[in-house]
Amino acid sequence: MRTHLCGELRPEHVEARVALCGWVGRRREHGEHLSFLDLRDYSGTVQCVVDGSVDVRSEWVVRVEGTVRLRPEGTVNPELPTGEVELTDCVVEVLAEAEPPPFPVDDRAEVDESVRLRYRFVDLRRPRMQQNLRLRSRVLGAMRAAMVRQGFCEVETPLLWTPTPEGAREFAVPSRLNRGKFYVLPQSPQIAKQLLMVAGMDRYFQIARCLRDEDLRADRQFEFTQLDIEASFVTERDVQDAITVAVVEATEAAVGEAPSAIETMTWHDAMDRFGVDKPDLRFGMELVDLGEVFSGTQVRAFAAPCVKAVRVPEGGALGRNRLDGLVDRAKELGAKGLAWFKVTSDAPVALTSPLDKVLSDAERSGIVSATGAVSGDLVLVVADEWRTACEVLGQVRLDLGRPPVGQGERRFLWVTEFPLFDGTDEDGNPRSAHHPFTMPHPDDLELLRSDPTRVRSQAYDLVLNGWELGSGSIRIHREDIQRQVFDALGIPPEEAEARFGFLLGAFRYGAPPHGGFAVGVDRFVAVLAGEDNLREVIAYPKTQSGTDPMTGAPKALSERALRELGLRVTPAGD
Ligand code: AMO
Repeated sequence: MRTHLCGELRPEHVEARVALCGWVGRRREHGEHLSFLDLRDYSGTVQCVVDGSVDVRSEWVVRVEGTVRLRPEGTVNPELPTGEVELTDCVVEVLAEAEPPPFPVDDRAEVDESVRLRYRFVDLRRPRMQQNLRLRSRVLGAMRAAMVRQGFCEVETPLLWTPTPEGAREFAVPSRLNRGKFYVLPQSPQIAKQLLMVAGMDRYFQIARCLRDEDLRADRQFEFTQLDIEASFVTERDVQDAITVAVVEATEAAVGEAPSAIETMTWHDAMDRFGVDKPDLRFGMELVDLGEVFSGTQVRAFAAPCVKAVRVPEGGALGRNRLDGLVDRAKELGAKGLAWFKVTSDAPVALTSPLDKVLSDAERSGIVSATGAVSGDLVLVVADEWRTACEVLGQVRLDLGRPPVGQGERRFLWVTEFPLFDGTDEDGNPRSAHHPFTMPHPDDLELLRSDPTRVRSQAYDLVLNGWELGSGSIRIHREDIQRQVFDALGIPPEEAEARFGFLLGAFRYGAPPHGGFAVGVDRFVAVLAGEDNLREVIAYPKTQSGTDPMTGAPKALSERALRELGLRVTPAGD
């Protein structure tokens, strides 16, 4: 039907007779004799000049045959890639009429989210959404190619699966043939891929759809995609190297430039220096330890196991309201308080702070020298348990200094040596930091019984500009260690057998040492596209409340369908 795409016409095409297909954008009539219309397809827009008036409207689908010519002097549009040319002697054929669009099909229009999602097929016509979905396609293509080239074999695992203990609430699917029984949609192919290692697949990958019934946020959807891999006879480094190749090549394919070398940092260092396990390295403001400065302090508030500070460059300009806001924020985040010091002079040191009077001279100058603060800066201090002090200041650092997504360099980071357990559940049992299949650090196996919170793991995350892009680990491949970990998690042997008997059983049949990783593709694409919400890089996402305004899902089932599935819906609250 067409010879060219709208966006590809250039002066080199002048005098060619071409046929284009697309949607009508803006239309202008110049009297009765001349009409201009913008014709748009995914590649861009080109101006068509039609003799006489033409009966087409915005978003009608047309085929236009015409001759390319240079635009007359003074009418060149430097903003448009096709702006030097236009189509003349046009014959316009209407392929489909259209109702007026619910909103203008351009990137400038601010449109309510639910309207955009209701008319997603119109929304996706917008250039920004076209670019995002195509960027996503390049990322997926490059990742798949990188994994195949590295000898990984693509295997699809079931969507109708069984409950697994990865932490998120799961979506259940009723079984018609087995009344009263349910499949569960996979949170990830974790166990399936580990079984593929027992099966001798050696190197597996999949671009896997995962489903989790979690509260939705900007960086979380019910359905998302992972580049999921698993490999046998590998070290942590081997897994990280394979993933590095995939993300570097995908970045290059997506945005045309490769990122700089990926650094590695232990979980402890990440927490200590940035107060989070996913540091955003695009800016400084690292946390500084003031333990020594306050080691013999008389200031009650600072007599804590850990005293941490963050320097806010030029933060001295913040007014009292902002500062009070920061104190409230720190308390909300779990600190007992937040002390602030405005550096009014660095030599000799002079501070403005409600606490200034109670500081010794050594403490006053210690704050300034340890943080490297200069006149005009602000220093924020939290004294607490190490974890709390780090986490609170880490969040304050982000609040005050984090650049918008898509700004600055792309700073990938491997975070390694995560603790095996993180916090406790309602029953006081330790909770897996990653998932219960993660291999404890070999030097810490003894601690599993005596002091589980101190056990390090062979788990690692990949971070990009403060987003957790993915996580993985070396797995437990021995039944005895897996049982010890279930035991530490407070999962009784009978329950472990009932839930994961098929995994434990498989380990008895010769399980190779193995490890793997999963990259969250939606998050990766969002950061590459400079979007702060995953919805902008997913064709048909759900709203915050988990609905799809286009299809109306989720919907009630008919009585008949429910009966067939053996289900009865009880009123809310029952
Ligand atoms: P994990 O649960 O950390 O690990 O998930 C890996 C990555 O998937 C992405 N992700 C999400 N993206 C969008 N919406 C969500 N609701 C969502 N949840 C997770 C994140 C995350 O880093 N089986 C393990 C991997 C392994 O150990 O091999 C797993 O799924 O980017």
